[in-house]
This record gives sequence, C-alpha cells and structure tokens, in this order.
Amino acid sequence: MLENTKKMLEKAKTEGYAVPHFNINNLEWTRFILETCEIEKSPVILGVSEGAKKYMVGFSTVTEMVKAMVKELNITIPVALHLDHGSSVESCKEAIDAGFTSVMIDASKYSVEENVKMTREVVMYAHERNVTVEAEIGHVGGEEDGVADELAYAKVEDAARLAKETGIDSLAPALGSVHGIYKGEPKLDFERMKKIQELTNLPLVLHGGSGIPDELIKQSVICGICKLNINTDLQLVWAKDVRKFLNEDQTVYDPRKIIKSGEQAIKDKVKEKIYLLNSNGRA
Ligand code: 13P
Repeated sequence: MLENTKKMLEKAKTEGYAVPHFNINNLEWTRFILETCEIEKSPVILGVSEGAKKYMVGFSTVTEMVKAMVKELNITIPVALHLDHGSSVESCKEAIDAGFTSVMIDASKYSVEENVKMTREVVMYAHERNVTVEAEIGHVGGEEDGVADELAYAKVEDAARLAKETGIDSLAPALGSVHGIYKGEPKLDFERMKKIQELTNLPLVLHGGSGIPDELIKQSVICGICKLNINTDLQLVWAKDVRKFLNEDQTVYDPRKIIKSGEQAIKDKVKEKIYLLNSNGRA
C-alpha cells in the first residue's frame, strides 16, 4: 500500500532525521530502490518528474507499476509516490487522479501571489483526496531534465507567507543547492534554513541533494531538512558501471544484463544516503 508523506515527514521532523526521495526512471530503478529501503527499514519517497512520467508512459502506468511491485516484493516500509516539480495545477490533479499519494506544485517561477494562488488550488484538491502537497519558494536552479536555470534564494517572508496562506504539508525553499552536477561548492544558507523552519514549522525539503558534501547534508538535517531529493548521484554511479560493463564485454546485447550491471552501484548509493540521512531502522 502506498501512503502520503504526512506521517513519514512529521516523524522525521520530530525525531530529527530525513526521509530520502529518490527519482525513478524505470522499472529496474524502482526495484533497486525499494529492495534496498526494505532491507534498511527506511521509509522512501519515489519521485517522478514530468519528464520521467512522459518516458514511463503516463502517471497511471507508473502508479500501477509501483503498486504491483510493492505487492510482489512484499514491501512493508512506508512508500510514497510523489510528483516531482509539477509545473501546473492540471499536472498535479492528473497525478492525484492517477493514484499518486503526494505532489509537488512548483510555481516558483511565478510571482509570490501567483505561487500562493496555484499552490492553494492544488492543496484544496489534494487534501480532499488524502494527498500531501509540497511547494517551492525562491528558485532551485541547476539542470533538470536537460533544462538549465538560475538559483534564487528563498526570501524568509515569502516562505512564511506561502506556508500560512496555503496549508501545504512540506516546503522546499531554495537555500543554495541546485539540480544536477555542481560547478563549485554549494553555498547552503543555514541561517535562512533555520529561520524558515522556525517561522513555518513545516518539514523542509532540500532539492538538488546530489553532490553536496556529507557534512553539509548532516547540518541541513539539524536545521530542519526532513526530505532530501536525490537523482543525479544514482544516475552517475549507474552510468559508470554500465559503461564499464559494456566496455569489458563487447558481445553482450541482452538489455536485462546491461541495465542490471548498474544494480549494485545504485543499491550501494541508496544505502549510503539512507545512513547519511539516518533514516535506517525508522520504518
Ligand atoms: P539532483 O539530481 O541534483 O540530485 O536533484 C534531484 C532533485 O532535486 C529532484 O527534485
């Protein structure tokens, strides 16, 4: 059974750890992540971007696949299926109607007024259906699904306003992390993080969780981050091992063997992140 993120994030907030959000790209990744989280007894949020939704043939295909896999693999940990960076109210509603248990409305590129308006509409629709909502304020930059954009730190007063006027369940303020590979060291603003946490009292979400030094992640969890979004780190370790496998065996052509050659790398990375976030044994 899939659940929303309410209980898992509130528990993380109370007990001082963070729940990992891993983006899924296909059936195999979903299995690698679920199996590892089950062994480590960590709750998990499976994130699906709009690009990944398109690649995996729509929200319903993803929902049915994840639900069936949870059943077939006898997964007992809490699992949420989450729309990552929903770009419109319609997209969020579509994910909810297809059985997603959590959505992110990312209206961060609009004015704060418009962000509040769109987020509120999603919250009303979602909460009537027992679905949780994450929203973004400021703008997490970087590169996602091949699109590059600029980072803009969240303003504390805007974060407080978005939280107060919408009834969201979690908040992703832009705090210095970016999506994709970092060009230099990320400059996370911990003072801003703490202030936003105190003012909103919400579980905070840090996007662009790949490539941030471990010490900064630990400090973020202390300052109120309850959900860390990770995508690129898994892609990098998977691609490295698959490339090596193909280079070493010029005759292999079975796609199952090729995709599987990156299985251990993903599982090791997932486990590493679970321990970093201290979510092991919390399910
Ligand atoms: P990374 O690809 O940098 O890990 O970011 C993932 C993310 O924030 C998804 O929302």
